[in-house]
Order: sequence, then C-alpha cells, then structure tokens
Amino acid sequence: YVIGIDLGTSAVKVLLVNQQGEVCGEVAKEYPLIQEKSGYSEQDPHLWAEKTAEALAELVQSFNGDAEDIEGISFSGQMHGLVLLDEDHHILRNAILWNDTRTTAECGEIYDAVGKDRLLQITKNPALEGFTLPKLLWVKKHEAALFERASVFMLPKDYLRYAMTGNIHTEFSDAAGTLLLDVSKKEWSNEICELTGINPDLCPPLVESSAFIGTITPEYALRTGLPQSVKVFAGGADNACGAIGSGILADGRTLCSIGTSGVVLSYEENGDKDFDGKVHYFNHGEEDAYYTMGVTLAAGYSLSWFKNIFAENENFESLLAGIAEVPPGSNGLLFTPYVAGERTPYADAVIRGSFIGMDASHQRRDFVRAVLEGITFSLHESIEIFRENGKTIDSIVSIGGGAKNEEWLQMQADIFNADIIKLSSEQGPGMGAAMLAAYGSGWFTTLLQCADAFTSTVKTYKPNSENTVKYQELFSIYKQVYAQTKSLNS
Ligand code: XUL
Repeated sequence: YVIGIDLGTSAVKVLLVNQQGEVCGEVAKEYPLIQEKSGYSEQDPHLWAEKTAEALAELVQSFNGDAEDIEGISFSGQMHGLVLLDEDHHILRNAILWNDTRTTAECGEIYDAVGKDRLLQITKNPALEGFTLPKLLWVKKHEAALFERASVFMLPKDYLRYAMTGNIHTEFSDAAGTLLLDVSKKEWSNEICELTGINPDLCPPLVESSAFIGTITPEYALRTGLPQSVKVFAGGADNACGAIGSGILADGRTLCSIGTSGVVLSYEENGDKDFDGKVHYFNHGEEDAYYTMGVTLAAGYSLSWFKNIFAENENFESLLAGIAEVPPGSNGLLFTPYVAGERTPYADAVIRGSFIGMDASHQRRDFVRAVLEGITFSLHESIEIFRENGKTIDSIVSIGGGAKNEEWLQMQADIFNADIIKLSSEQGPGMGAAMLAAYGSGWFTTLLQCADAFTSTVKTYKPNSENTVKYQELFSIYKQVYAQTKSLNS
C-alpha cells in the first residue's frame, strides 16, 4: 500500500491506495482560512501538520490490513504559499496563501528590478500576486524584524514532509511557482535573488518529485501508527499531482480540474516553448517534463460563494439539481466568475464578477446554470490560448468538483468543443501523490505506466454541435464583459 496526502486550501485529504490503484481508505480534515483584511488569505501551518497527523492516525486505525504493509507516502499541495522558518525551524508567521492578493506593489517591484522579459526568460512566468517571491518581498518590507530571523522558506506541503521526517526540501514542480526558479535549468536563480534582494540561502534544497527523502521520525510513527519503515517521497504541486493522477503524462493530453480555483493544463515534453507568459509554464512532477496551465481564480469558489449567499442550508447536489431544465445560455443570463479577481488571461486581482441579462422571469436555477457557464467560459479562455499557440486540444480529462455533475461535464464538452473524459478515479491530486509514492517505491518503471494501471475512462462526453455554436456566440459576448466592467473596480 501507499498513501497520498493532498494538502488543499479547505482540507487535507489522505488516501490509502493498493497495488491495483484502488482507494482502500480515505480521511479528510478541514481547516479555516484566515482573512484578516480584504485580499488577505492565510493559514496556520501548525494546523496543517496537526490535521494531517490526525487524519493519518484515523486512516491507519480504520485499515483492516497490516500497517507494516504501508510502503510509501507522498504529497500533493496547494501551490505558491509562503511558509517561513527561523534558524531552529520554528514557524515565523502564518503561511500567506496562493489566493492572497496583497502583493500588487511587490509584483511591480519585481518587474522593475528584473525586467519583464528577463523574468519570463528565467521563470517562464509573469509576476503575479499569488506567487511566492512577491510574498517574500512583502514580508521583508512590512515585517522586517521577523524577516531578519528567517532561515529558510518552503511551500505548504514541504512543511508536512518536514514535520514527518525532520528534513527540509522542496521539489521542482512547487519551486516553479515561486518565481525564483530557473525553470529550464532546474536551479534557483541567483540572478533573480540578487536583483530582488533575496538571500539565496533562504531557498531550500531542490529534489525531484519522486525523490526518496527519508523515513518518518519515531515520534511520528508513534503518533500515527504508521510503520517506522514507511518511505517518504518528495511529492508535487497540486496541479502537477492532479496531472499525474489523471494520466497527463504524454504529449497531447490535457486536464481540466475544477476545485476552489480551476485550471486547464496541458503536458509539455520540454522547457523550450514560450507562451509569452499568457499561461503558466511549470515543471511537472515527472522528471524533466513540463506543463502549461491557465488558471481561473474563483472557479468552485464562485459556486460556493453563490451557495453561501443564496442557498446556505443546501448542499451542492440540490443546488445543481435544476440546471438540466435550463437550456444552454441560461435564458439570457451571463455570469463572469471574477468574485476574487481573475488570473488567466487578465492577471487582474482587482476585477470583480457580474451577472448581466437578468430578467424578472429568471429562477434561481437560471442563476446556478449561469454561474457554471461563466466558470467554464473562463476556463475556455485558457484553452483558446493553447489552441492559438498551436496545441491540438480535442480531448480533455475532467476532474474535481466539475466532474461530479453530468450536466456540467456535458457543458464542458460543448463550451470547449472537445471530448470530455471522466475517469474511474476523481481523486486527482491525492491519487497523483499516491502514484509518486508507488513509483518511488519501485512498483512501476514509469509514472505513465502507473497512471495506466491506476486509472481508466468511465465515460466520454461528446460536444453537441448545436450547443457548441450557441456557446461560441455567448463566449464572444462573455469576452467583452471584462473590458466593459474593469473600471467599476479600479
Ligand atoms: C495554481 C494555483 C492554484 C493552487 C490551488 O497556480 O494558484 O491552483 O495551486 O491549490
């Protein structure tokens, strides 16, 4: 058996997986977001470690087999979050998360110091509020005394691995989201460190996602019931792990993953291409591979925002129950999902969402369908960028919240004008983490072999050409809303 740990934004999920790729146990534990000011989003890493240990203890306790048969553990984690440790490896402050947007000024400073083109050349990405370097610069500026005491930074899931093993590392797929990594050379960029005034000693040692890091400490074994012999492998960014878990491990494979944020990502064989910074370009969890990715900041978050305001006491299933009765186009209602800003293609933390075309006859279900369509249109903007840059996207694996509803899956096929593939396992990132542990433990010779063994297609949704035409018309209106509403919030 192996364990995949997925450190998400709202909860940590631990999965026990056997050699056939079947999930034999699953425990999730939630933790809150700390939002002290508008645009702020933090979490306490102690709580991540606490909840993960609790979840693992429950997982082991409820396991019918012999815990000694658990061979390996690996991780998937929310990206970009800044965890700062002092010399004694104590946490210096709450982690500042990927969806925190306080660092607009620092992004400007990075461009001034490094230059837009040079930044793109080295990191393959633009300076965005969510990334780690702007957060480091923010702490340096606003909490100077605390920053002085920092000895190393790490990404969220790296802290969990440290809590288990006492070893400090990060790996390439998460390092790629810091804006401090030379993405093609796979090394920290001394040039960026120097130009932005970050001491390179703050950067943790880099390893591959499937690297063996060590075994767990005796205290951790005692606390969780895990065998002391269990091997710990480095793990990857949640999007890289989502890609691994969904078999996005060969050219031409594309993923749509809808969680709090939504992403469309596509496999890249090497780090040579350039999408001009329009989409992210990160190292994969597979050695020397890459992926390009567009992000909708508030994907599932737009739906949960709507539910919290208008259907607080309902679950998502009942909220979505009526949408099949609403035709494509939501009877003229259009939604833009910018309730927390937007990443691709606008990189705009300030823009806010809208409903337009409201009619007195509209029912709540029209609004719900419009929210789903708006989220999907936003993801389609990323697919358009891929296609404009010569990628063929005719089939897409869909995972996460967006893969839980039949109607939404069909909507993705119609809006993306591509086959949508639903897999036997919707676990995505957690399964990807388990696969890294399985591969690291030597169960397979390649990650692709592992993905082929662990996942299969259960259903393919084909685009309906009539709906696709209708959606193309609406999409051209959707794309105009951004420019027309931008000044509302600037
Ligand atoms: C990716 C991003 C999000 C987080 C969510 O760039 O910011 O998808 O990884 O956990």
